[in-house]
Amino acid sequence: MSQDRWNPSQYERFRAERRAPFDDLVALLRSCPAPRVVDLGCGTGDLTAELHEKLGARETLGIDSSARMLEKAHGHAGHGLSFEQGDLGTFAAGPWDIVFSNAAIQWVEDHPALLGRLTGLLAPGGQLAVQTPANFDHLSHALADAVAAEQPFAHAMSGFRREPPVLAPERYAELLFGLGFREQHVRLQVYPHVLESADAIVEWVKGTLLTAYEARLPAALFPAFVDRYRDRLREALGDPRPCFYPFKRILIWARR
Ligand SMILES: C[S@@+](CC[C@H](N)C(=O)[O-])C[C@H]1O[C@@H](n2cnc3c(N)ncnc32)[C@H](O)[C@@H]1O
Repeated sequence: MSQDRWNPSQYERFRAERRAPFDDLVALLRSCPAPRVVDLGCGTGDLTAELHEKLGARETLGIDSSARMLEKAHGHAGHGLSFEQGDLGTFAAGPWDIVFSNAAIQWVEDHPALLGRLTGLLAPGGQLAVQTPANFDHLSHALADAVAAEQPFAHAMSGFRREPPVLAPERYAELLFGLGFREQHVRLQVYPHVLESADAIVEWVKGTLLTAYEARLPAALFPAFVDRYRDRLREALGDPRPCFYPFKRILIWARR
């Protein structure tokens, strides 16, 4: 993204809802004494700190590209836990016993190449654990794309269209096999969220998906983009209360 639009407060409004996939991903890890862990796209570091403690890690490094998210993360540092600004699309330091990434690889292109590179960061017997949203065909995502194609937004973003890099679950399984992993677990899981109203979906995606548009639109135009998105979402969903928001995610675990 061209600018840092990550906002820790907005992102954490749905902290409870985001917890379950993190817990499910951690549950896939096999025990490993005092591992060295890297958490790619660690965000505010809250979950990195939990991971570090839960695994009894000797060392955990959190990497994130957003200075604003890392500002908060640095508060967790100490006792083997540290944070650095970096790009998970090019990160190359290693080896690690566990390469972990929760809800971040959807921001990076070319997942076959990414998985190959992350595999190269693993120590012998190392584990890869990745969770990625896969909700791009839900109205909440499709309507953001549709609004981006409307004027004046399309013109202001020079026709920018999001092209989600996330692959089908079985494709990740094939890639892991091709990379020589002897053990793997890949699954698609639907997380059922019951939100107060359709407007809560808007608040949710403002902290994630819409940051891609916010980074590319003039600041004065972004509120109009959000208003238009809200109207289209209400129109499409009929503004039910409560509003059921099914969210698909892919969980990937493998050991060499
Ligand atoms: C949805 S948040 C997830 C944060 C954390 N892993 C969690 O589970 O709460 C996605 C994070 O990925 C980071 N991110 C996006 N693109 C990145 C990149 N290319 N390299 C490193 N971090 C990136 C963002 O700054 C953001 O903090």
